[in-house]
Parts: sequence; structure tokens; C-alpha cells
Amino acid sequence: MTEVVSLPLTAWKDTIDAGVQAQGLAALERGNVLAFPGLRFEVDEQERDLLNPRVGGKSKNISLSPQGDALKGVEGDEARARQMQAMVGRFADCADTLVRNLLAPYAGALQRARTSFRPEEIAGRQSSWRKDDTRLHVDNFPSSPTRGKRILRVFANINPQGEPRCWRLGEPFEQLAERYATALPKPFWGSATVLNALGITKAPRSAYDHYMLHLHDRMKADLAYQQSAPQSVWQFAAGTVWMVFTDEVSHAATRGKCALEQTFLLPVEAMQDIERAPLRVLERLMARKLA
Ligand SMILES: [Fe+2]
Repeated sequence: MTEVVSLPLTAWKDTIDAGVQAQGLAALERGNVLAFPGLRFEVDEQERDLLNPRVGGKSKNISLSPQGDALKGVEGDEARARQMQAMVGRFADCADTLVRNLLAPYAGALQRARTSFRPEEIAGRQSSWRKDDTRLHVDNFPSSPTRGKRILRVFANINPQGEPRCWRLGEPFEQLAERYATALPKPFWGSATVLNALGITKAPRSAYDHYMLHLHDRMKADLAYQQSAPQSVWQFAAGTVWMVFTDEVSHAATRGKCALEQTFLLPVEAMQDIERAPLRVLERLMARKLA
């Protein structure tokens, strides 16, 4: 089962013991969540006004571009947008420092992607089944194919009422893939080119992206699986930080508001144990190259 492995870091830029670095990287690549109960993302007094579900208006998430220069989804005047950009951008820098410091072998290959702030309460929110992240799933990006690159995400719970962020964690990826692999439809010949030409995707989808999208959908649509799948419940306390490969670890966020999230992409070749990548697991099961 997926485990949550706690590491004793207390600062974003700690001098990290080589043993802790090795332990963290190995645990992450084995499909576990790394938790940092002693690490805090500080929100100053003025920024506490931003920790409000209405700050995003109709958008579920507020997001910042990887360069930190374009903020989307914030409601209100320019001063508020600037304040939000500063807070989200500061988190992006903290997460970047942490990941490069802790996972030093990845540092040269890691690509910083978007940062998001998720102000709304998850429990009870209305959404389509496909967008319902309270259902167990693995992440992928329908419009931005990764072509096998890993999706590494760093989260911080900054809930101002001190409430935890609750997740469910599911079965290991290999088990999940074996369960669904034969039921996933093959891509239509030429469909990746057509989707890209129509601007539905930002680059052509590889067969890997196609199967990961269908795996995501099959899991979420399968209500019997959602109930009966091997799973555990985990609460990430307010003020704490965690990171996980969300393309591999089956997860569902069931309760909580006000979380920050930073996404990184990592080429498979940068992993210590390449064979654990979802790309390699699916390629073994399907006996062919997928990206
Ligand atoms: Fe997710």
C-alpha cells in the first residue's frame, strides 16, 4: 500500500543529510508520499485576507505561470492580484528550492510548471464525475501531453481555521494498471494529429497520454472500484507540506480548503529506478513502446 513517509525538515533551504536525501528519493520512487510535518509555508498578516473561498470567484483554482509573470483566476482589484501573485510566487520558489535540495539527482532535469492556489472547500463541491477529485485517480493533463514525463507535485495546507486536508490513497500503480490495462481502448489512428491540429492539445498526445487519460476516467467512473479499492485515509495537518508523484499514486482529495500546489515535470531518464515509471509499467503490460 501507499505509505506516507515523514522527513524531519524544518526549513525550505535546509542542509539535508545525505541519508535523508536517499531515503526521500527512494520512498518517492517506490510510490509513497513524502510528508514534512515540521516545514511551514508562512502566510503574513495581510495575506490572511486572501485565504478566502471567494477570492477565486467562479474559478476553482488560481494559477501562476511557471515564469511567475501571469496569474489567472483571481477576483478583485489590481492590488489584491499583486498580493496573490506575490504569495503564490513565494510558494513556487520555496517548493522549487525544496525539491532541488532534497532530490538533488533530479535538479538538472526538473522542469517547473504551474503553481496553483485552491481556496475552495472540496467537500460538497459540485462537479462532473470526470473533474471530481474526491474520487481516486492518477493525474494527467488532457491538453498538455507529458509523453511519459513524471508529474511531481508539492502541496502546502494553509487552511486559516487550522483544519486538515483529507486524502484517500489507493493501491500501487502496477496493481492499478494490471486491473484496467486490458479494458482501455486503443487510440484511433491519426487522432493525436487531429486533436493537436484543432488546438485541443498543445502537442500531439502519445499512446502513453492516451492510456493515462483513459485510466483516469475508468477509475473515476467505476463507483464500485471507488468503494472497494484498497485504500487508506490520510489527514495532512494545517501548516504542513507534502510531495508525491501524482501520475503514479492513486489519490483523492476529500476535504479541506486553502492549499497551495506546485507542479514539476521530470523526464523518466532522470529517475534512479526508471522501471518504476508509469510509462515503463504500461509498456511492460502492453508489450510495446508508448512514447
Ligand atoms: Fe489529482
